[in-house]
Amino acid sequence: MESLIPTLIFVLTEIDAGNSTRITIRSTVSNKKLTRDDESTLYYLTFEILRIMNVVDLYIKMSSSSFSLKKINPKMRSLLRLATFLLKVEKKPIEYVNEILEPYYQQIESLQLNTILESIQAITENLLYENKFDLASRFSIKYYTPTWIIRKYLSRWNEKFTKELLVSFLQNLPMYVRVNTLKADFKQIISVFEDRNISYELINEIQNLIKIVYSETPIPRLPEFDEGKFVIQQKASALVSHVLDPKPGEKILDMCASPGGKTSHIAALLGSGENIEAIDINEDRIKILAKRLELLGVKSTKIIKSDSRTLYKKTQTKFDKILLDPPCSSSGTYSSRPEMKWRLKQRDLRWYTKLQSDLLNSASKLIESEGCIVYSTCSLFQEENHDIISSFLKENTNFSLTEANPILGLSSELLDNKAQELYPHLHETEGFFIAKIKKED
Ligand SMILES: C[S@@+](CC[C@H](N)C(=O)[O-])C[C@H]1O[C@@H](n2cnc3c(N)ncnc32)[C@H](O)[C@@H]1O
Repeated sequence: MESLIPTLIFVLTEIDAGNSTRITIRSTVSNKKLTRDDESTLYYLTFEILRIMNVVDLYIKMSSSSFSLKKINPKMRSLLRLATFLLKVEKKPIEYVNEILEPYYQQIESLQLNTILESIQAITENLLYENKFDLASRFSIKYYTPTWIIRKYLSRWNEKFTKELLVSFLQNLPMYVRVNTLKADFKQIISVFEDRNISYELINEIQNLIKIVYSETPIPRLPEFDEGKFVIQQKASALVSHVLDPKPGEKILDMCASPGGKTSHIAALLGSGENIEAIDINEDRIKILAKRLELLGVKSTKIIKSDSRTLYKKTQTKFDKILLDPPCSSSGTYSSRPEMKWRLKQRDLRWYTKLQSDLLNSASKLIESEGCIVYSTCSLFQEENHDIISSFLKENTNFSLTEANPILGLSSELLDNKAQELYPHLHETEGFFIAKIKKED
């Protein structure tokens, strides 16, 4: 643990600066050649600190009025968060925390680390609830989520449902792998897992998807993963391509394709990447997409850097099936991306919904008559899901909802029970929304 401290401070600081948690940890593990034990400690501490960051920060703010957590040096902020977590959550002795962190601590407003730790030590859990009278504010402390997000949940679901959802965001979801049938067959991957004593469960509803129950070896360290014979993909994400239901010969468009989880799945379902066009607006993400499709043996897919909002102005091509998996608030993924709940601001939602509805309008101009558009997000906010679909249908009466089969989630009453939503506490997967709309002849 002691030798990991500079690495932990570095990782927390990078994430604080807006970088992705998983990518930061993964690249740090490989650059620093961490042992497997250090890797799991790094994952554990980073994720746990991020999950409960509002309370960690509250302890620090309550400990002293002489500095502002937002304004101090980012490394010191990370160090104080780590110290508070070790002290209050891991219940490590104050002398130990001070001793291991002191060498990295620079005075803040002439405060010694030990002084801050002593104040934090004295703050009881009850004090955190001071002046938190309404349910959303109390839940915010208890389930470590911004109050405004809890208010949104409580306005849609009852207290019990909200509580269960919030608890599930504090736990790890099972890992799923999808056999990449362009490079391996199901039996081959099953025998790899059996040879390595990896326990797994089959997911009957989704072909070639396997839930990992326990594995001594981290799954990404298996050679078959590096060879692209299987991919790690959440159950809900793997469901989307089945709802699209691509058929050989159909022209398929993936409007927001990178990093290619769904494009590669569509190609695997078709047995080839031909007839697929994969678009992304971002230069770096196009490179990631191209690399990933190559690794996964997806050939002949057209990869295009373009803005899908205006694509219809640049092409005469019409598509039989379109997948629209636009950027979203990621509010269904707090269990694997806890940093997202602290990054999202209320005003960001308006930006997302404008982009989502512009992209859907563009999709409507690119689809053939009788063709289908599948719209999916990893969000649980109604504005990004039901509202986008219902206002689109209101303005485009030549489109109608069709069942987003196979339905593994809850069918959405707000959309005639035709769209579906998946919830971590009910379906052991990330929160997701999937709707399918058809253009009438
Ligand atoms: C949710 S991710 C897509 C994930 C992908 N479908 C998968 O399953 O791996 C959204 C992607 O949309 C891209 N994007 C954002 N705005 C876009 C636009 N106007 N046109 C095309 N792509 C866009 C982003 O760069 C990002 O890669």
